[in-house]
Formats: sequence, structure tokens, C-alpha cells
Amino acid sequence: MVVIAVTKEPEAEPRVAVSPETVKKFVKLGATVKVEAGAGTRSGFSDDELKAQGAEIAASVQDTLNGADILLTVRRPSSEHVSSLKKGAVVAAIMSPHDEKEDLKSLAGTGASLFSMEFMPRITRAQSMDVLSSQANLAGYKAVIDGAAQFGRALPMMMTAAGTVPAAKVFIMGVGVAGLQAIATARRMGAIVTATDVRPDTKEQVQSLGAKFIAVEDEEFLEAQTAGGYAKQMSASYQAKQAELVADHIKAQDIVITTALIPGRPAPKLISSAMVASMKPGSVIVDLAAERGGNCEATTAGETTLVDGVHVMGPVNLSGKLAFNASSLYAKNIYTFLETMFDKDDKSLAIAWDDEIITGTLIAKDGAIVHSSLTANS
Ligand code: NAI
Repeated sequence: MVVIAVTKEPEAEPRVAVSPETVKKFVKLGATVKVEAGAGTRSGFSDDELKAQGAEIAASVQDTLNGADILLTVRRPSSEHVSSLKKGAVVAAIMSPHDEKEDLKSLAGTGASLFSMEFMPRITRAQSMDVLSSQANLAGYKAVIDGAAQFGRALPMMMTAAGTVPAAKVFIMGVGVAGLQAIATARRMGAIVTATDVRPDTKEQVQSLGAKFIAVEDEEFLEAQTAGGYAKQMSASYQAKQAELVADHIKAQDIVITTALIPGRPAPKLISSAMVASMKPGSVIVDLAAERGGNCEATTAGETTLVDGVHVMGPVNLSGKLAFNASSLYAKNIYTFLETMFDKDDKSLAIAWDDEIITGTLIAKDGAIVHSSLTANS
């Protein structure tokens, strides 16, 4: 019988790696799911609800972990916790493998097979396992909601007997999963939306959502996409041209939402302090890249500051603010991934080590870090 442990997350993390729906599915696969008491509370999943779907609620973290075959968490777990699992256990989490390398090494030293969910290959089969997408989509939505709440004016145009309220102008920088949802949300709220990205594919996506695309469309732009669908680091000369275009456009914007990221690198700086100063008083910047260094020079991660009359918001873990949705989707991503590791007849673990989704996400095994993107840098 495969035993799956799900522990309570640290204080700063409201999400959890399991939901009532996935408990039921794991039990159906023949697994035992042990959930630490209270682990789902902040996501709106009570112990009783999880228990009703077949989970065993464990009173302490040690009871949850002892002898389990699999540990599922949102944040990277501690070596101490992982050491309590069965030898060579499977651990799946958002591992942030580029951060705190020493800690990652000691975690690898436990001998567990560590899977980093954010490394999920962007192939059709793995779309339902893609945690970056499921969480970024919610973050894009929430960024518009929070930005609109901070903005002291209305978003849609309103024609009233007392006069016309103009529509707000919203500019989205970075049109990946979060940016697309931000465009759709801002449009639904009646704003006039423009968006920019360095990947040419995004132009049509922006237009199909009823927003206007703004970018320097030179030769470099036409090749600025990797096979995995991510952005490339742009040249200094492109960045200068891009900055000029943005500087001109941003002055007239009411809410700017930035989501630009390049995997494994600090976030590109797209809004300088001078650009912030050029914006109208009361405008809002929501910097979704705050955790990765920020797209705006004036951002302070985790805070909202007033800079030259502009509200600069640097939210962290925005999807966690919609913990019920975020955990439900994350748990489903994890379940779909784990399901591929189960032998349904034997009700045992049967990992296809050469499968693309396994090799893509496996970062450590048998005591060593094994992922090429991590061994190359260290
Ligand atoms: P991301 O979170 O890595 O980056 C967000 C956006 O920032 C990207 O669109 C990127 O092009 C943009 N960006 C980077 N540097 C920039 C700059 N200097 N100026 C303006 N924008 C800049 O990307 P995300 O959201 O993870 O998605 C990337 C792509 O992958 C999307 O096309 C998405 O549709 C695709 N995708 C494919 C999946 C699959 O096939 N399984 C699953 C999820 C996403």
C-alpha cells in the first residue's frame, strides 16, 4: 500500500498540496493519504471534509511523515521532514531549485527522489500538471482586482446624467499565462487595455482578447521565443528600444501590471524610476515579478509603496490569496502527475524513469542533484 503524506505548510504559505477531490482520487488508486491536522484549513478544506473523502488525519507532523512513500507539499520541505520518510521516497513540490542551493543539496542528501513541479515540460500531455500555469492564471486575475481596488477611480466608462466617467487605461507587460488572464479580467471590467511582450506569438493572443499590442517588432523580436515557449533574454539594444517605447506609452496609463519573467534569471527591469515619476498621480503599478527582483525599479517585494504619487504594489504569492482555488488546482496538477507513477493493477509505485515528464522534473535522486539545469551551474 502506497502511503502519501501531506504536511502543513509554513506560516507564509496558505496553500496546501491536497484537496478533498484529490484525496478521493488517490484513495481510488489504492493509496493511503495521511494529512497533518489543520493542513487544509487556510485553503478552506477542513479536516472533516478531507476525512470524508478517505484521508487519515494525523495529529502531528511526525505521525504524518513516518514511513510514508510520498510527500506532497507546496513549498520545498525541510531535510528533517524528508528524512522521516521511507528511504528513497518521492517528494513533489514547488522546489524553487535555483534558490538556497546549500539547503537543496542537503535535501538531495536524504536520498529521496525530488520532483520540482515548476520544471514540468511544456508539452500537451503535461498541461494538466503545469503548476506555473495554474497558479499564474489566478495571480493575473488577482493582480487586476487588487490594482483596481488600489486605484481610486472606476474602470469602465459610465455615461450618467451627471457626466461621463472615462474608462481606465490598463497596460499589461508580459503576456504569458498571468498576463493573458490579466488582459481578460481588465477587459471584463471595462478598461481600455494595451499589452506588450517580446514573444511574437503573443501579438495575436492579445488582439484576440480585444486589447491592443504594443512592441518593438524588429528581427530580434521575431526570434525571441524558445522551443519551450519561454522568452529569451533580449539584447541591450533591444531593451533600450523597448524602454523608449514603454516610456512614451506608460505616461498615459492608469494601471500597469507587469508579469515579465525569463526562466532561471532575475526578472527583466522594464519600468525605471523615471518612468514611474512620469505617470499620473494616483496611478497604480502591480509588479507580479516582485519575488524575482521585480520588473519595476521602484518595487519593494511584499509591500505597497507610494513613489512620486504612484502606488507601486509588489505582491508576493498572489495566487495564495485565492488559496481555495490555488490549492484545488495545484492539488489537481500534483495528482495528475503522481497518477503516472502508479501501477493501477498492483496499486504500487512504478516510475517510468525515462519518461519526459519524469526526467524533466526530477532534480535529485539517490543522494545527488541530477537535473542538467542545476548540475551545469553548480
Ligand atoms: P513566464 O511567466 O516565464 O513569463 C511571462 C511573460 O513575460 C512571457 O510571455 C514572456 O515572454 C514575457 N517577457 C519576458 N521578458 C520580457 C520583456 N523584456 N518584455 C516583455 N515581456 C517579457 O511565461 P509563462 O506565463 O509561464 O508562459 C510562457 C508561454 O508558455 C506562454 O506562451 C504560454 O502559453 C506557454 N505555455 C505552454 C504550456 C504547455 O504547452 N504545456 C503550459 C503553459 C504555458
